[in-house]
Amino acid sequence: MGAVTSTEEIRQSLATVIDPELRRSIVELDMVRSIEIGENGVVDVTVSLTTPGCPIRGHFQRAVTDAVAGLDGVSHCNVYFDVLSDAQKAALQQKLGRASLPEGTLARVANILCVGSGKGGVGKSTLTANLAAALMAEGKRVGVLDADVWGYSIPRMYGLGSTRPPVSPERKIIPLGAYGVSVMSIGFFLEEDAAVVWRGPMLHKALTQFLQDVDWGELDYLLIDLPPGTGDVSMTLAQLLPQAQFLIVTTPQPTAQKVARRAAQMAHKVSLEIAGVIENMCAFQTPSGERFAIFGEGGGEELARELDVPLLGRVPLTMPLREHADGGRPLVLEEPEDPAAQAIAHIARGVIAMAPLPLATLPLVEVPAGAAPPAPPAPAERKPAGVSLPMA
Ligand SMILES: Nc1ncnc2c1ncn2[C@@H]1O[C@H](COP(=O)(O)OP(=O)(O)OP(=O)(O)O)[C@@H](O)[C@H]1O
Ligand SMILES: [Mg+2]
Repeated sequence: MGAVTSTEEIRQSLATVIDPELRRSIVELDMVRSIEIGENGVVDVTVSLTTPGCPIRGHFQRAVTDAVAGLDGVSHCNVYFDVLSDAQKAALQQKLGRASLPEGTLARVANILCVGSGKGGVGKSTLTANLAAALMAEGKRVGVLDADVWGYSIPRMYGLGSTRPPVSPERKIIPLGAYGVSVMSIGFFLEEDAAVVWRGPMLHKALTQFLQDVDWGELDYLLIDLPPGTGDVSMTLAQLLPQAQFLIVTTPQPTAQKVARRAAQMAHKVSLEIAGVIENMCAFQTPSGERFAIFGEGGGEELARELDVPLLGRVPLTMPLREHADGGRPLVLEEPEDPAAQAIAHIARGVIAMAPLPLATLPLVEVPAGAAPPAPPAPAERKPAGVSLPMA
């Protein structure tokens, strides 16, 4: 082992570590907080992240270690993390010449819509799959997360089997593409029709991974297909995604609407905003024009009125909607003239027309023009504030 490298040489070497979201070197971005050379060639590098929960920590951990560990006289490299202060974020924003920084993988998802119901079997998954396809047909970038971990049905509705999704070099899971929609489901990771028995922490962990470790990329809408009822999944998601909105699906019958009201109460309890109601399985119309209100009428309208949210649409019962769902092809793309397809396309346009949520971004920090760059941290603050992650 030769002479111990200088901090300047280490800094030069760190110029090869690129922030995959900002696409620049962490040296250039001023994200290298400190470099300390200890005894026996042990080097401590502290990297400042834009957010504490930054999902690309693992990437920095490996890239920094790779860049430093090979240098002369370096026996080991510890990577620590802290978070940029507001002033540092402001300086970074100025440097990047834009108003906001991405905040992890969901930062580039503009709208998150959870599709839920009080009761099972009302058509949540069928509507989620078709609504996503309809939004895509309107030129939107759309993802679907199947959060029904116990009764996943989204893979089947898109004709996707249990293909394993690929993993990117940044160790993110890449969603599978179907009909132009990015799809993620627990079903991709299980043997066909295997049962999932997760509860509590396991469930929480799986849902967190679906949101943080999946490379959703830039999306206008992420639709989340919920399991029926008001249980664990909805609560967990509400906790993880406070910015999400809720679409409630109900059938037209008064009893279903009562159960749907419970879903609405749950959404209120966890402070999720309800974007609207969709009434599904409305009157079936024969080709000769005869109407059969098999599940009654008016439930969706009444629920929407009660909740003071829009009734986004009424989707009739049609045979092709059921057949195409079973066949793995979204009806809205295959038979757009079917009355159910038309109703779903109408809902998609309504969803687009609703005031979209702004892109989730870091709060913009005001910086007066020509302000001096932030002072370097005081020596006491220079101590690593983050934790040393276990080596991947
Ligand atoms: N408007 C409709 N016309 C005809 N068939 C429909 C309609 N809506 C849903 N279906 C059919 O009803 C069945 C149940 O729908 P789906 O699986 O989407 O309901 P779900 O609410 O997601 O159920 P779960 O609560 O079990 O998740 C499916 O076979 C689906 O194809
Ligand atoms: Mg379902």
